Amino acid sequence: MSIVEHRVLGDHRGQLIAIEAVRDIPFEIKRIFYIYGAQPNTPRGQHAHHKTRQYLIAVSGSCHVTLDDGENKATYILNQPNLGLMQEAMIWGTMHDFSHDCVLLVLASEHYDEADYIRDYDQYVKVVGA
Ligand code: TYD
Repeated sequence: MSIVEHRVLGDHRGQLIAIEAVRDIPFEIKRIFYIYGAQPNTPRGQHAHHKTRQYLIAVSGSCHVTLDDGENKATYILNQPNLGLMQEAMIWGTMHDFSHDCVLLVLASEHYDEADYIRDYDQYVKVVGA
């Protein structure tokens, strides 16, 4: 998983970024949600999904995203609206260090289903067999 840089279609009127399901991200989008008003010192996420794949974009401001496969962790910085980060299913994700103006847009492959969540890290590590 790594940061993807999307093409910015800009002209004198401003900037535009287009992201197409399947073409620019590897799934059909069934849901979007966005997080704003998050606090710099209050992490969010801290869960994995059995099935849901997510694509994260800080359309305003910045935040850090730490992805963890149970063995290795990597932290990515989303600080431009043309940067995207794929969080695959069964990857533990934490969003943190939000700027006050951060709007974090998440494109998701599945409808919301609480049963798809693994919210306990010890259980996650057992499930991935790490
Ligand atoms: P939560 O999973 O705690 O957010 P985060 O991943 O940022 O820490 O979700 C907060 C609340 O919103 C929780 O009650 C579940 C609900 N929710 C939905 O109803 N639909 C959704 O698509 C999402 C992501 C959350």
